[in-house]
Amino acid sequence: MTDILPFAVTETIDVEFVSDAAATEGAALVIATKGKFGPHYTHAGLDAVAKATGFSNKTGQTFSTYAADGNSAVRVFVQARGSNDVFDYEMAVAKTAKALRGSGTGSLTVHLAGSDSSPDDAARAAVGARLATYSFNRHKSKATAPKKPALKRVRIACDDPAAARDAYDNYYGPVTDGIVFARDLVNEPPNVIYPENYAARLRGLTDLGVEVEVLGEAEMEELGMHSLLGVGKGSTRDSQLVVMRWNGGKDGDAPAMIVGKGVTFDSGGISLKPGANMWDMKGDMGGSAAVSGSMMALAKRKAKANVIGIVGLVENMPDGSAQNPGDIVTSMSGQTIEVQNTDAEGRLVLADALHYGITKYKPAACVDLATLTGAIIVSLGHEHAGLFSNDDGLAEQLSLAGEASTDKIWRLPMGESYDKLLNSPNADMKNIGGRAAGSITAAQFLKRFVGKDTPWAHLDIAGTGMKPSGRHDARESTFGTGFGVRLLNRWIASNYEG
Ligand code: BES
Ligand code: MN
Ligand code: ZN
Repeated sequence: MTDILPFAVTETIDVEFVSDAAATEGAALVIATKGKFGPHYTHAGLDAVAKATGFSNKTGQTFSTYAADGNSAVRVFVQARGSNDVFDYEMAVAKTAKALRGSGTGSLTVHLAGSDSSPDDAARAAVGARLATYSFNRHKSKATAPKKPALKRVRIACDDPAAARDAYDNYYGPVTDGIVFARDLVNEPPNVIYPENYAARLRGLTDLGVEVEVLGEAEMEELGMHSLLGVGKGSTRDSQLVVMRWNGGKDGDAPAMIVGKGVTFDSGGISLKPGANMWDMKGDMGGSAAVSGSMMALAKRKAKANVIGIVGLVENMPDGSAQNPGDIVTSMSGQTIEVQNTDAEGRLVLADALHYGITKYKPAACVDLATLTGAIIVSLGHEHAGLFSNDDGLAEQLSLAGEASTDKIWRLPMGESYDKLLNSPNADMKNIGGRAAGSITAAQFLKRFVGKDTPWAHLDIAGTGMKPSGRHDARESTFGTGFGVRLLNRWIASNYEG
């Protein structure tokens, strides 16, 4: 199959911001602020129902009911927002949108007017609806599959719809487009998306003003990227390195750099993985998807920053021409690597991608994202991504961005004693450090290719970039979560956009 997939993201629903939505079409979500339902909410009897259900003023309390609206009854969901607690508007709307799945209700009105919600809260309410109704069904032959998203429209009734629209159009909407794009990339099966047509899809970002450059195997050979190229040797697909440049900042301002692991399928290579769940390794390009989705978002919201995105796209397969355990390869940096385990391939891809990006573009800081180790799932489950850094300031910036964006990260230590576990008698290093502290030794490996002068951070998103069912929150209804897109956008917005 050589078809180039459509560039457009899977569009979800229309978003409207209105000041008054007295007549509810479809279903309604009422955020009860400090026990009140807001002035524009006209359905009679809600106070009485609330009282009968014992609804009080505690954040997180909910009830749902039906209310008469003209000649029909509409479904009404109520969620309490207490006095001083942080209230997650995104999650509130996402839960309602999920409850409406398969109900056939095409429209949801969210009543925020008269509450103390900000325009950002209103914009995030819309995001919650979009993320919760995302579903990946491009490959289902029956258009009427029962899990099709039901919602077509979300109306947010709020005090300042113009300001909410502005926040949505200029930030939250584009970031959500980037998340949806990243989800689509991760969810595509490995026979449909592979390095060459992935790169072709990224060329589409040119339409948004991103400069896209694709290096094929010949160019990478020329540059001496044998660490990356070794991983693709067993694949019939050619490896690709894609560089995406968004020049929204001042001429000459050092760029922020984001680098992603894009293993379109990770069989383990000659160090073959067991069969169970091997299919999940179609998602081993979550880091590259986060970078690609972020570049889309930056361009769509015309971010005033210079940002370079680099993704290493490779398929890791066993074959007669695949690399073997014991092979020694020379990376672009000149350092030699004994490949003891061909399944520790992500670090081999990133070693050359990081060295190339950092030496060529001299970024102000560099953040890589990768579904790098199973060990990070043992450490942090599917809740937090692992954060590793050589720079406390950068680690702090990212932690703050993680909190603000709800892409949660947790810092783990690095150090000399972990680093030395990578020493090899046969080459400058080996690509595995043993069973203990597997995520940390993976990070130490990457650090050897970063150099001393660049603030760098690594996010291990193996547990958060793709999730087994049962581990999702209401905003994620899908294997590929799009983790990282909003974290990176928040990081860049807060630290590079003036
Ligand atoms: N892509 C995997 C990591 C992974 C595992 C991601 C499970 C998501 C879920 C990576 O390439 C890998 O195979 N890592 C090995 C490293 C080991 C050989 C040192 C691992 O985690 O077992
Ligand atoms: Mn692997
Ligand atoms: Zn992998």
